[in-house]
Amino acid sequence: MTETASGFRAPTVPAPDDVLEGVDAIRALLRNPIEAMPRALFREPYLTAHHGGKQIVWLADPDGFETVLRAEADNFPKNFIEHRMLAPVLGEGLLTSEGAHWRWQRRAAAPEFSPRRVLAFAPVFAEAARATAAEWSALADGARRDVAADMQRATLKAICESMLSGESGFDLERFGAAVTRYLDTYGRLSWFDVLRVPAWAPRPRYPMGFAALRYLRKEARRVVSERRARGPGDPPDLLDLLFAAQDPDTARAMSDAELVDNVLTIVDAGHETTALALTWALYLLACDEAAQTRVAEEARAVLGDRDAGPDDVDKLVFTKQVIQESMRLYPPVAAMGRNALEDTVVSGLKVEKGAQVLLGVYPLHRHERWWSEPETFEPDRFSPARSEGRHRFQYVPFSAGPRICIGATFAMAEAQIILASLMRDFRIAPDPEHRIWPVLRITMRPEGGMPLFITRRN
Ligand code: HEM
Repeated sequence: MTETASGFRAPTVPAPDDVLEGVDAIRALLRNPIEAMPRALFREPYLTAHHGGKQIVWLADPDGFETVLRAEADNFPKNFIEHRMLAPVLGEGLLTSEGAHWRWQRRAAAPEFSPRRVLAFAPVFAEAARATAAEWSALADGARRDVAADMQRATLKAICESMLSGESGFDLERFGAAVTRYLDTYGRLSWFDVLRVPAWAPRPRYPMGFAALRYLRKEARRVVSERRARGPGDPPDLLDLLFAAQDPDTARAMSDAELVDNVLTIVDAGHETTALALTWALYLLACDEAAQTRVAEEARAVLGDRDAGPDDVDKLVFTKQVIQESMRLYPPVAAMGRNALEDTVVSGLKVEKGAQVLLGVYPLHRHERWWSEPETFEPDRFSPARSEGRHRFQYVPFSAGPRICIGATFAMAEAQIILASLMRDFRIAPDPEHRIWPVLRITMRPEGGMPLFITRRN
């Protein structure tokens, strides 16, 4: 295989140098929170400001992330805004709950995410890749195609096939569109959030997303009631595990509403983020021909002409590095919000009780102190030799600590298989007319999709 140094630069979204205050800050945050992340945060470990008498701390420092996400995790529950955006659709499921209610749900779901179980889904991931490849094969060579939409369909199909045994009956097109609509409306920061209007008060964009929300909840209710009527499968899938779970404190089972919350949590959290990781990886490979060729060569060497299986995942080494490096430059979860319950010291800074702590994953991953040439796409940064000794909290696309993404192993295996399968058979090129602009709507996605030119590889 060819050893080529990659060199494509993925510039950081321009932003003001320092923390914006007052109306300017609010305007930038409402438009696109990525554009409100001060440039200084890509050089400094933290920045602070005060808003409405409360301290706001922006963090971009591995030690600080470790304090908030692991060492003092109990003192930093998720903040009000994340909950306000997600709870209407996800209720108090695994992603949005706290304390004992969260712990119970996490234990109930965990067996489905063991590495052995996840690798057994390799044929499902290969099938999702094959469905996309079939669509791309039907295109004329050099056709322009929105790969963001393709990746969303592929990952939605994979999560429904694996976690719900292929029995969701979801109309993938409509379901995916409803998720996007929800994120664009309920997932947008609002003036009400800035003014700390309580979460129960509807935000001005809610009416535009209400039909999507109602559709998503209705579809998940149907899945739960169909499963209740049919009984568990063999082997049991995630939904069967949740049906069988018992709260250790009360010995009760999950109510139907709680089951609906978790079906939506797994399906939503489990496809949109992975679709974005793949979309950004495709974009970066389209801009870096040498890296693209290397992925294609690796895929040919490991897979030949057949579908990927469980044993291939560990062999797709460079493909994995490409996905890791893509999530460094474009982390699907680009920021996380926490709320300080008590006074605490984080990275030498006194964080006041009640402070909003904004964990800047995007600035952390592009930070001048922690990375050399931070804007350069260089998958070999993640080679075992170069990863050695790196601070565990310097690279956190899946978060870390007790609330680490439960689906991290699943997402990596899925993304490796889909990316390798597609790059083996197709060549991609960027559209120079299309402006690449990341926007943050809970997750970070490319504004206006990701059009690429697609050609079959000979
Ligand atoms: C590349 C893909 C993915 C990325 C980047 C990602 C990222 C994350 C991050 C950063 C968190 C923590 C959020 C926070 O604490 O505020 C999280 C939590 C979570 N993710 Fe993922 N995720 C991905 C794929 C998946 C998949 C495939 C699933 C399920 C199949 C999943 C299910 C969840 C769940 C249920 C939680 C909540 C866990 C808890 O709080 O105990 N994610 N994810």
